[in-house]
Amino acid sequence: MLDDIDRILFHEQTILSRLDALADEITDAYRGEELTVVAVLNGSLIFAADLLRRIPLPLRLDCLRVASYHGGTESTGTVTFHQLNLPDVRGRHVLVLDDILDSGRTLHAICARLRGESPASVRVGVLLRKAKVRAEELDADFVGFEIGDEFVVGYGLDYAERYRNLPFVGVLRREVFEVAGG
Ligand code: IMP
Ligand code: MG
Repeated sequence: MLDDIDRILFHEQTILSRLDALADEITDAYRGEELTVVAVLNGSLIFAADLLRRIPLPLRLDCLRVASYHGGTESTGTVTFHQLNLPDVRGRHVLVLDDILDSGRTLHAICARLRGESPASVRVGVLLRKAKVRAEELDADFVGFEIGDEFVVGYGLDYAERYRNLPFVGVLRREVFEVAGG
């Protein structure tokens, strides 16, 4: 598994130090409010687990399962919701957490669906934001790290459902997805 990594972008300790600061930012932004976190599975699982334990506010946690990738390295443009019922967010301050903001399609679709449920507010937090032109007009309010337009894995991010358990974020060697035809 480690042989498939071209180079490490963020080591575990670097990520955790950044999460300390990001958690402080989020705590300041929501002080006095009750927060509902909507974690987008599977990618945000590890990010959300580490981040939320650093936020000393009363909060609810809901999870949402969507798919927009279907195994390759390019977004398909269609976002599939894997559950019929959305979390109950009416009148609540919602923070959507995802692993990465790439084309913006996934988070755009999720935010649109949640806004339809009359929340008090919807904001977005991501571990990574890719520097690129997005297909959808959407930005994140809280960002862990900016990265270039490269395919990365680890710390929750996958390629074909693998590599999520790597403790760091690294760039996947091109041969891995070119050979696999992704
Ligand atoms: P978007 O809809 O194009 O913004 O893509 C969002 C989803 O695509 C993320 O939640 C990830 O699951 C996946 N994704 C986008 N870029 C990467 C990457 O570099 N590595 C792994 N997954 C990615
Ligand atoms: Mg994914």
